[in-house]
Amino acid sequence: MSRGEIQTITLTINGAEKTLTVHPSETLLDALRRASYTGVKHGCKTGDCGACTVLLDGQPVHSCMIRATEAEGHEVTTIEALAAGGQLHLIQQAFIETGAIQCGYCTPAKILVTKALLDRNPDPTEREIREALSGNLCRCTGYVKTVQAVQRAAAMLRGEEVEPFTPVEATLGPGRSPTDVVERYYHMAEDEAPLPPLLLSPPEMEPLRVVGKGVPKVDGVKLAAGRPVFTDDIKLEGMLYGALLTSPHAHARIKRIDASRARALPGVHVVLTYKDIPRVKYASGGQSYPQPPPYDQVVLDNKMRHEGDRVAVVAAETPELARRALRLIEVEYEVLPHVLDPQEAMQDGAPVIHDEPDTESIYDAQHNIVHHIEAEGGDREVQWAKADYVFEREYRTSRQQHAHIEPHVCITYWDEDDRLVVRSSTQVPFHIRRMLAPLIGLPEKRIRVIKPRIGGGFGNKQELVLEDLCALLTIATGRPVRMEYTRRQEFTSSRSRHPQIMRYKVGVTKDMEVVATELYLIGDTGAYGTHGLTVQMVGGQKGLTLYNAPYSRFVCDVVYTNKPPAGAFRGYGATQCFFGIETIMSEIADEMGWDVVEFKRKNWIKIGEELLLSKALGEGREGFEQVIRSSGLEECVQVGLEAMDWYNKRGNEAWRQKDATTRRGIGMAVMLHGSGVAGLDMASATIKMNDDGSFNLLVGATDLGTGSDTILAQMAAEVLGVPVEDIIVYSSDTDFTPFDKGAYASSTTYISGGAVRKAALDVADQIKEHAALMLGLESAEGLVLRDRKIIIPDGRELTLAQVALSSLHQQNQHQIIASASHMSYESPPPFGAQFVEVAVDTETGQVTVERVLMVVDAGRVVNPITASGQVEGGLAQAVGFAHCEEMVYDANGHLVNPRLGPYHIYKANEMPRIEVIFVQTEEPTGPFGAKSVAEIPMDGIAPAMADAIHDATGVWIREVPFTPERVWRALRAA
Ligand code: FES
Repeated sequence: MSRGEIQTITLTINGAEKTLTVHPSETLLDALRRASYTGVKHGCKTGDCGACTVLLDGQPVHSCMIRATEAEGHEVTTIEALAAGGQLHLIQQAFIETGAIQCGYCTPAKILVTKALLDRNPDPTEREIREALSGNLCRCTGYVKTVQAVQRAAAMLRGEEVEPFTPVEATLGPGRSPTDVVERYYHMAEDEAPLPPLLLSPPEMEPLRVVGKGVPKVDGVKLAAGRPVFTDDIKLEGMLYGALLTSPHAHARIKRIDASRARALPGVHVVLTYKDIPRVKYASGGQSYPQPPPYDQVVLDNKMRHEGDRVAVVAAETPELARRALRLIEVEYEVLPHVLDPQEAMQDGAPVIHDEPDTESIYDAQHNIVHHIEAEGGDREVQWAKADYVFEREYRTSRQQHAHIEPHVCITYWDEDDRLVVRSSTQVPFHIRRMLAPLIGLPEKRIRVIKPRIGGGFGNKQELVLEDLCALLTIATGRPVRMEYTRRQEFTSSRSRHPQIMRYKVGVTKDMEVVATELYLIGDTGAYGTHGLTVQMVGGQKGLTLYNAPYSRFVCDVVYTNKPPAGAFRGYGATQCFFGIETIMSEIADEMGWDVVEFKRKNWIKIGEELLLSKALGEGREGFEQVIRSSGLEECVQVGLEAMDWYNKRGNEAWRQKDATTRRGIGMAVMLHGSGVAGLDMASATIKMNDDGSFNLLVGATDLGTGSDTILAQMAAEVLGVPVEDIIVYSSDTDFTPFDKGAYASSTTYISGGAVRKAALDVADQIKEHAALMLGLESAEGLVLRDRKIIIPDGRELTLAQVALSSLHQQNQHQIIASASHMSYESPPPFGAQFVEVAVDTETGQVTVERVLMVVDAGRVVNPITASGQVEGGLAQAVGFAHCEEMVYDANGHLVNPRLGPYHIYKANEMPRIEVIFVQTEEPTGPFGAKSVAEIPMDGIAPAMADAIHDATGVWIREVPFTPERVWRALRAA
C-alpha cells in the first residue's frame, strides 16, 4: 500500500488499546492477522465459512466482511483473549474434553461464537446452539460434538458438576442380544441430546490400559487456544506473496503471453510463464514410487485444459500487488472446442484434450481414454448359467468438492545451508519432496518439507498443487514466498471427487444367491489423469467384493474431460461404486419381493472367505490375495435394525405418511472398506527415551485433523506403560521424522500404528534389559512396564526415569531408542451398516434427512472419541454427497457455484440427528486388533438414502445428489 493511502485506527483488542496502520479497503481479518492475531483464521474471504469470526463489542462478526476502519473505537475479541494467563477458558476445555476439535481450523471461531451465546444465554437449547453456530462451517465434525461441547461448557459455566465425557460401553455376546443392549443404552437417548458414542464389545475382548480410552487429543490445547500452528501462521522476514493466474477457458491454447507490464510494476519481483520454466512431465497425485502414469502435466503449459488451469505465477511485496500484477499479464488465447461429458469425450471426432506429443502411456488419446481396465474372477459361463434372473441398471454420481476450511497454502524459503524449506499444508510430505525435486531442479537432499497442523484435507492435499510454483518463485527471487489458493481456486484449480457412470449387471438365483456381477464404469478424471487409475480400481474392487460373487468382472474407461482434474477424495471410488451396488441390491430385493436385509445378508462376504478380485484389482497394479479374518457386519446390522426400530417403520404406511404431502422412508446399506494399500503402503516410527522417563515419538504420519497423532501416542503409551502425556509426538518433517507414505487410503491406524507398536516393543525390550543390568538380573524375562515403572517379578521396582538416567549417564551408556517400519500384504476391511430416515415433500421434491445412524466394525477402537468424530464428520460429508453437494457447470465449462455458500455444505442448524455405534472385533493382523475407520463412513449414505426415498415414494432415483429438481422430476416421471 502506498503511504498516502495508509490510515491509522485506534481500537481495543482483547482488552488493550491498540493502534493499527491500515489501508482503507483492508478487511479487519487481514489487519488482525497482519498484527499477529493468528488465531483469527480465514477460509473463504466471502463471508461463507465463518472461520474468521471475532467478537466486535461482544457480538460475533465475520471479520472478512468488514473493513478494519469500521472497527475504530470498538472492542475486538479474538481467541487469544480467552486463555489469558495460560489458563484455558472453560469453553476451550469443554471443546477438548468432548472431542469437538478435529483439524481445529474452525475451532477458535466456534469457541468465540459459543462465548457470545453463553454470555447472553447461559442455558441454551440444542436448537439455539445450532442456530448460533449456523454461520460457522465445519467440514470435519458433523457438529455433533460441537453441540455437546457447548452444552458441557454451559453446564461448567453455570457451576454444575459434569461427568467425564467417555463412551458408553456395553458387552455384546452370548446372553446379550442387541435388543437388550440397545434398549438399555441407546433408546434412552431418543429425545435427548446425543449420547457419547456407544461401544459394544465381545465378552472375550480384554480391555487395555490406554488403547481403547477416549483420551483427549494430544494437540487439543494448542488448537483450542488458537496458537500459530498452521502453515500460514508464520511470517518470515522479507516474505513475498505469490499469486496464480488461471485459465478463463475450458480448452484453449495460449497464442501470445506478455508479462512485461506486470514485471515492470514496482514491488513485483518475478513473473513466470511457460516460457520461463523447463518442460518436465509429471503427475500431481501424491502416491508411492513409481507413481502411476501418465505423466500428463507440466508446471506451466501453453495449453489450457480446464477453467482454472495454470497460466502464470507472480511474486510481489504484497498480496494486493501480486493480484494487480496478474491483471497486467496480457494473454491471447486460441479458444478450442471443449468436451465436458465423458461419454461424448470418447466419441470419434471429440476434441482431443491431450494432443501433446510428450505425454506417454495414454490408452487412447484420440478418444480421451486415459486408462482402460479389465479384470475378472471366476467362471463366466458357469455362473451366468446359474442365474435365474438378471438385473441391469445404470447409476451416476456427480462432482463433489472437498471444501476443507483451510485452503491449500504453502511457504517456501532458503535455510542457512542453502536448502529449500517447503512448509506446506500437505497430507504427503515425503511424496511431495520426491515429486518436487525434478520439477524445480534441486536434488531431494536439498529439499526439506515441513507439515505443520493441517486444517482438513480429505484427500485434496494428497496432491502437489502449489509447492512447485511457490518453490520456483523462491528460487527465482531468493526470498521466502507464500502462496495460497483463493476459495474460488479451490473449486476450479484443486481436485474433486470423480463423477462416475456405473452400469451394473447382477445375476441371482431364485434362492436369493448372487452368482455373477459385472460392472462397467466410466470415470471422469477431468483434465489430468492424477488419481484416475487408482480411484477407479479401488471403486471396482470394493464395489465387487462386498458380495464377492463367484463370477465378477470389472471393465472401466477413465476419461479426460475439460473440467478440473478429479483426485483423491475420502472414499476413493468406493463411495461412488457402493451407491451403485447397494442400490441395485435393494432394487433386486424390492422387485423380487425379498426382505432386503435377508437378501444382502445371504450374500455379503463373511469371515474366512477370500476377496475374489483383490489380486486382480490392486491399486494401480495387481494386488494380493486377501481373506476376511474379522467381521462384525452381522452384529452391525442387527444392532442398527434394533436401534432404528426398522421392522416397525419399513413399509409401515401409518408411519410413512407424515402429513398431507410429506412421506417418510427408512433405508439401509452395508459396506466394507480397506486399511491401507496392501503390499505398497509403508510407514515408520522412531521412539526415543528422555532423562525423565518420557518419550519422543517421531512419525512421518500426517495428522490432518483425524487424531492420528493421538492414537499413535496411545499405542506407544500402551506398550511403554505410561500415560499419553508422557509421549511427545512430532509429525512430520522430512528432515526429522522417518518416512511415512502419508495420510490416505485409511492406512494410518493400521500401517503407521503397526510401525509405532513395533518401535515401542523394541524400546520396551531395551528398557527391560537395562533394568535387568541395573538390578544384576540374569535376564529381563518377566519384567513388566506399568505406571511409569519397571516391575520385577520379585516385587522390586524401578522407575522409568531411573532407567533413563542410568542408561544416559551411568551404566552401559547409550540412548534407548528404536525405529521400526511396517507394511502389510493385507488390507483388512472394516465393515459397517448405515441407516437413514428421510422425509420427502412429494410436491416440491425436497428431501429432508431426519436421522442417520452408522454402526461400524473398525476392529478394536483405539480412541472412541476421535474415532466417533471421524465417523460423524464422514457421515456429514456423505450426506452432502448424496443430498446437495454438486459442482455445476454451464455449457462453456464454467463452474457456476465456486463458493462455499452456493455450493452448500451442511450447516450446524441443518444437520440431521447423527449417531454412531461401534461393534468391536479383534483384527488379528492389526495393531492391538485395530482396523481403519476414516473412509468407510462415506460409503453407504447415498444408497441408504435411495432406499429410503424409494420406501417413502416407491421411486428409485439413480443419480446423486438427490436435489429437489432431480427428485421432483423422478416423482413426476413415475
Ligand atoms: Fe471444523 Fe476441521 S474441525 S473444519
